[in-house]
Amino acid sequence: MSDEKMLKTENITFAYEEDAAPVLRGVSCEVRRGELVAVLGANGCGKSTLAKHFNAILLPTEGKVWVEDMDTADENKLLDIRQKVGMVFQNPDNQIVATVVEEDVAFALENLGVPPQEMRLRVDEAMELAGIYKHRAKGPHKLSGGQKQRVAIAGVIAMRPDCLVLDEATAMLDPRGRAQVMKTVRHLNRDFGITVVMITHYMEEAAEADRVLVMSGGEIVMNGTPKEVFVRSEEMKSLRLDVPQAQELCLALREAGLDVPTDIISTEDCAAMLARLLQTGRADG
Ligand SMILES: Nc1ncnc2c1ncn2[C@@H]1O[C@H](COP(=O)(O)OP(=O)(O)OP(=O)(O)O)[C@@H](O)[C@H]1O
Ligand SMILES: [Mg+2]
Repeated sequence: MSDEKMLKTENITFAYEEDAAPVLRGVSCEVRRGELVAVLGANGCGKSTLAKHFNAILLPTEGKVWVEDMDTADENKLLDIRQKVGMVFQNPDNQIVATVVEEDVAFALENLGVPPQEMRLRVDEAMELAGIYKHRAKGPHKLSGGQKQRVAIAGVIAMRPDCLVLDEATAMLDPRGRAQVMKTVRHLNRDFGITVVMITHYMEEAAEADRVLVMSGGEIVMNGTPKEVFVRSEEMKSLRLDVPQAQELCLALREAGLDVPTDIISTEDCAAMLARLLQTGRADG
């Protein structure tokens, strides 16, 4: 990960209607190139509204949004911005437009007028990356939710974006589909350096991020590593948010009188701690 900025909002305010109360209230945040950032927050706190500012679907009422050094309010930069920052939404059925998988993945490129040879290359590459190449000739309606969502991701990846914004992209999927999509997202982030902003209600997904932003009432109220954020479990609960199950278990064991660390948030670390506890009677080995 570099220090280069990918996305930046400067004190942005946004209201959907002129006289309505603002939905975003002075949001300043920065996402560095190559980072995987999770955004958490209760229903209606403004997560999707913020996400839509990252590729100029919405423009701030006050303040500035930057994609690299491009001001999202600059109309001349709109195509560049949309190509650099791809969005994936919650419902895969609303994002699929063609009747064959590979045509769907090619759709946006076709609209951009990419030459056929180059298009073939990019579509194949994107389908490989999203792990749906073997389904390329199928009708999207024949696929599972997780597969459909990866078709949507492939369509975005074919544009060769620098950044992916996923707005609850796993919310409608079963656990298996969710795991497949997360694996694809991690692969794109780790192996191809694609910056990821991921809005989620799943704390286990957020635990895998480099950084977590927590929103409440149109503001960012926490910003830190997953451990830094989840260790504030009381605050999380007061915002009607959970902590990862691994941490929940550790907190319960601690309450029951065992000397268990409070900063365990991943299932793997929790399993290792439990194994030590069972073998030695001590959680810290
Ligand atoms: N198109 C719209 N017009 C008017 N108000 C809207 C519109 N979209 C969202 N809102 C309102 O703005 C507020 C923030 O909505 P937003 O969708 O950004 O929240 P969210 O954090 O993504 O919620 P969720 O977890 O339910 O997806 C809510 O009060 C919502 O009702
Ligand atoms: Mg939302």
